[in-house]
Amino acid sequence: MNNIVLIGFMGTGKTTISMELSNMYGWKVIDMDQEISKRQKMSINEIFSKHGEAYFRELETKFLIELQSEHNLIISCGGGIVMKDCNTKEMKKNGKVVLLTAKSETIYDRVKDFDDRPLLKGRKSVEGIAELMEIRQEKYESAADIVIQTDHKSVVEICKEIMNKIQG
Ligand code: S3P
Repeated sequence: MNNIVLIGFMGTGKTTISMELSNMYGWKVIDMDQEISKRQKMSINEIFSKHGEAYFRELETKFLIELQSEHNLIISCGGGIVMKDCNTKEMKKNGKVVLLTAKSETIYDRVKDFDDRPLLKGRKSVEGIAELMEIRQEKYESAADIVIQTDHKSVVEICKEIMNKIQG
């Protein structure tokens, strides 16, 4: 295995951090949302509206299993991947699971101008985000090997913290 699996709520910086980790350490990035969208030839919004959330979670499961034979990857997961228990079980076989966290205010600032996240529809406020985070919190924490709080930190600082904690 020897991969890094990035998880965390929408807008905690998984995509940005995965790209910087890749620059710093030369590992390849797999952005699961991007790849699933490419394979399905549909945006994430379209997948949710045509097939529903359960179908999307199933695609995530299959993709995690497929990646288990690979090495030296940074796998950036969709924010809700932990909502299916078997995804958490499978992702632990993929590598070290790193949870990125941020305050709901920080997340709101990062996501407010985008409409590409179906599960934020009707919930795009600091309170709406905090509520969904609270529902998911326990699942994120039980999936994580390492937790990194990202508020007020630079991308490079976060990446160094991740690597220091992984190297133990
Ligand atoms: C989701 C998060 C999204 C994407 C989909 C569902 C979620 O990924 O997988 O919209 O349930 O939290 P990002 O965390 O990259 O936005």
